[in-house]
Amino acid sequence: MSGHEGLKRLIEEKKFLFFGGKGGVGKTTMAAATALWLADRGYDTLIIATDPTISLSATFEQKISETEVTPIKCSCKLSGLNINPKKAMGLFQSRMTGMLDGFSSLFGSELLSTPCTEEIAAFDQFVSYMQDTEHDKLVFDTAPTGHTLRELSMPFDWSGYIANQIKNRRELSEVLGFVYDEGMVEDLKEEKQRYDNAVRGLADSTVSAFTLVTLPEKLPIEESARAMEDLAGFGIKVPSLIINEVIPKEVLQGNWFLERRRATQDRYLEEIEERFQGLVKGQVPLLETDVYGVENLRKVGRHLYD
Ligand SMILES: Nc1ncnc2c1ncn2[C@@H]1O[C@H](COP(=O)(O)OP(=O)(O)OP(=O)(O)O)[C@@H](O)[C@H]1O
Ligand SMILES: [Mg+2]
Repeated sequence: MSGHEGLKRLIEEKKFLFFGGKGGVGKTTMAAATALWLADRGYDTLIIATDPTISLSATFEQKISETEVTPIKCSCKLSGLNINPKKAMGLFQSRMTGMLDGFSSLFGSELLSTPCTEEIAAFDQFVSYMQDTEHDKLVFDTAPTGHTLRELSMPFDWSGYIANQIKNRRELSEVLGFVYDEGMVEDLKEEKQRYDNAVRGLADSTVSAFTLVTLPEKLPIEESARAMEDLAGFGIKVPSLIINEVIPKEVLQGNWFLERRRATQDRYLEEIEERFQGLVKGQVPLLETDVYGVENLRKVGRHLYD
């Protein structure tokens, strides 16, 4: 099976499509091109960025809201959302504050000031879209690898944390004669359930696919290998790899500089074949301009899937 066929089959079969990789390798571009390709073929598609920058808006050359799902102008069923962790935190904090009010004398205020609250908040938003039933496809343009992994680890920490709180609460409250509200524990259990489900969804290869984007260069390859290992630690298997910015052979035309660059890329392409066996692979050529707007994104989509 060719790379095109394999990648195409993957995005048509799965509902939740994640794009990860080192900073600047083309995650947003590949996620956007994929979302557009699917929408052009009639899938009702939502693209979600969990990145604090405005890259999604820039890529589609239109404002994509941080709070509401925004229709994207393409004569197709595509919409976008740019989750802003800073704003999401407000939502999260008010919910947590409400939930933990009764326990605040024991731990509430401390929990709410932990440095990772912002990341929990972004993940919290993201998790709610893992339960989406309104769209055929959800494409996630993730933040760079380290951040993504932290986001992914959050529900595990959360589950453990919440479970412990529930347990400790019982013992502590008995000791302190603290009357606790079963309803609150139920709320906490419900949260844990939500997070557990999201994690299960991420690792469930029947509905989710995590594609890594890389370049035929040393550092992006190393990062991809590490990201794959890290994801495997969470039970997430990476089925596919996109190699971006490959210099097309037709442009070489005896230019020593380009030939040198391409020869270097060829070495790394071989290394990729050896190190990432069993993954479906696709290549996207280095284009003559950067990739903005629907027409350019369609061009990338054709390179990936047609
Ligand atoms: N095949 C390509 N040919 C030419 N330009 C490209 C190609 N792929 C991506 N670009 C350009 O490279 C830049 C970085 O791409 P992109 O924003 O998609 O990367 P990213 O991985 O999302 O970055 P970040 O880690 O900052 O989120 C953009 O200006 C994009 O238009
Ligand atoms: Mg990006």
